[in-house]
Order: sequence, then structure tokens, then C-alpha cells
Amino acid sequence: MSVVEVQLEGVTKRFGNVVAVNDLTLKIKDKEFMVLLGPSGCGKTTTLRLIAGLEKVTKGRIFFKDEVVDDGETIFIPPQKRNVSMVFQSYALFPHMNVFENIAFPARIKKLPNREVKKRVYELADLLRIKDLLNRKPHELSGGQQQRVALARALMIEPSVLLLDEPLANLDAKLRVYMRAELKRIQKEFSCTTVYVTHDQIEAMSMADRITVLNMGKLQQVGTPDELYDKPSNLFVAGFIGSPPMNIIECTLVGTKYLDFGSFKLKIPEDWAEVLYREELVFGIRPQDILVSKSKRDGAVNFYVYVSEPLGDRIILTLVKDDMMIKALADKSTRVNMREEVWVIFNLEKAHIFDKKTGKLII
Ligand SMILES: Nc1ncnc2c1ncn2[C@@H]1O[C@H](COP(=O)(O)OP(=O)(O)OP(=O)(O)O)[C@@H](O)[C@H]1O
Ligand SMILES: [Mg+2]
Repeated sequence: MSVVEVQLEGVTKRFGNVVAVNDLTLKIKDKEFMVLLGPSGCGKTTTLRLIAGLEKVTKGRIFFKDEVVDDGETIFIPPQKRNVSMVFQSYALFPHMNVFENIAFPARIKKLPNREVKKRVYELADLLRIKDLLNRKPHELSGGQQQRVALARALMIEPSVLLLDEPLANLDAKLRVYMRAELKRIQKEFSCTTVYVTHDQIEAMSMADRITVLNMGKLQQVGTPDELYDKPSNLFVAGFIGSPPMNIIECTLVGTKYLDFGSFKLKIPEDWAEVLYREELVFGIRPQDILVSKSKRDGAVNFYVYVSEPLGDRIILTLVKDDMMIKALADKSTRVNMREEVWVIFNLEKAHIFDKKTGKLII
């Protein structure tokens, strides 16, 4: 198989009363690095297992290129014929086999000649920097090393579709950052259609060609990292993508000129008034789009410093006003003390407005 585009069409998966995946329609392009992102229990692993053919869909259809592989009635192409490799959340290595044989295993099943197996194992071990570990047993490896062995094993058969379920979850922070970049490079080198599951938005943002955000089995948004960051289609995506997360504040529209936040009002840009059709709104602004200064300025709102957290290059400021709490990112030279009064300007060009009732993006 060369071109492998994976398509889910209205896919629902139920386990008894639990709807793990709810009417999911999604197209994963050939050779794309697609990340499935969402909180625990949102249906990520189930979606991967459906693509792999380890579960049958309850409703809907799955296509590999133009071919239906599962329509809920029949599994047309069984897992072993889909040329799919999956690295599981708990990447089970065979404990009695050494690293070499673990990696070689899929090729042994396919009865590839010994010389070819050896060559590929060495190539993969080199790529994943585990050449020195080939004689060890899994219990003699660290979590990160086991992870890389599992990945090498998954790549052994040159899969058309690579499915990775939180493959970096067990690594320490430094190795995770390293592996993130390596995996991205390896995926492009192998150029196989990849679906990568994570609940870590930073991982998703840094690795994906496109991200699919899921919540409670339902699709929230599909897009490039930039699209999701700049134009989150609803409050869930807005709050999930970005660190520290977007400030999300309820407000009401007063006439056509102001947003009322209770303890202060903000004058809105003229073109906003035309599209704001509801009074009950939610204002969203990222911490980096809030300007904090120690001196009073035109249009600035006063807040008090609740806490300041230096990050080295920048500082996260948590600010309060009455019962409102927001986070702002400030330059590291901003020296403020707890309870000090500061002046805040919201960069409205970067702000978003959501419909409070539906959570959908308006601006
Ligand atoms: N075999 C099963 N039987 C019953 N319920 C299941 C089964 N597998 C998954 N579920 C349920 O389906 C939902 C989705 O589970 P899934 O494992 O896909 O979530 P996930 O997004 O991978 O979560 P996590 O990030 O915690 O791994 C959960 O509510 C889960 O309890
Ligand atoms: Mg899971």
C-alpha cells in the first residue's frame, strides 16, 4: 500500500451505556502527522483501536483510501491485513526476549530473511539510539529506553499507518522534549500516515501537522496548531490549547459600545458591535495579550498582584480585581510585589468573544 488516507465517517463506538466515540467524522491525509488531543476518557484510545481494527465500530464507516475496512456490520479488512503498527499506551514488550528480538518480532512473523531482519534492526536501533541495548532484556531498561524499543518494533514492518498512544507519557521531561523532536523527524523520514494520541497540548502543538480535539467522545475542532491557537472554535478548545491557558471571563454587552465585567467596563471596537447578537458573552484573552504596567495609562484597568511566578525569560502574573482573577505574561524586568496595584490593558485585537450559551466562537 502506498497512499493511505484514513477516513472516519460518522463513527460511533458504544461499550454498553458508555458512548466512547460519538459520531466522529474525520479525514487523516496520506503521510500526515495527525494528533488526537483531549482529556482523559474522551475516546482517544478507542479511536485508535477502531482504526487498527482491534474494535468494531457500532455505527458509521472507516475507510483506508477508498476501501471500506469496517462498516459496523463487517470487518472487511482484519487488523493483520491493514499494515498498521500500534504502540500501546502500556507498550508491552516481550519480557523473555532481548531488545533485538523484540524489535525483530514483526519481521519474524512475516518470515523475512534473516539478513534483512538484522539490517533493519540495526538501522532502527541506530535511528532510535538504542544500539548498545540490543542484548538486554526489557526489565533491564529504563522507561524511556523501553519506549524507544516499542517504537522501533512498530516501525519494523514499515507500516502504512502508524498509531501511537501517548508514547512519551512515561519519559522524564528532558527525554520527552528530545523524543518529541526525534519522533517528528522519524515520522517525516518514514513518511507513514500517523495518528498520535496525547492529552498534552504542548506535545500536540509541537509535533502535529494537524490536531483533532476531542471531548467526551465528540469532535471539537480539527486544524493546524496555528488555527487552533488563533481561532479556537469554542470555549473548550480555547481553554485547552495554550499555556498558561486563555483567560475566560463572563461579561455582558451593554448597548453597542461596552462589555460589562461587573467591576469595570471595556469599550469595544466598532466592528464588534455588528456581530455581537447576544448579551450574555464570554471574553477570552491569552495571558500574552494582556499588557501590565506599573503606571496608570489611558484605558487601563487597575488590578492587584496576587502572585508573581518568574519563568526565567518571562513572568506569569496572577492578578485580581474584586472576585476576578486573570493571568498575564510580563517581561522579566517587570518587578512587582504581592498586593501591589498595577494597570492592565487588554489587547482587544487578539481577544475573542464566545457565545455564553453555546460556547461557540463569535469573534
Ligand atoms: N472496553 C471498554 N469497556 C467499557 N468502557 C470502555 C472500554 N474502553 C473504553 N471505555 C470507556 O470509553 C471512554 C473512552 O475511553 P478511552 O480509553 O478511549 O479514553 P482515552 O481518551 O484514551 O483516555 P486516557 O487519556 O485516560 O487514556 C471512557 O469513558 C472509558 O471508560
Ligand atoms: Mg487512552
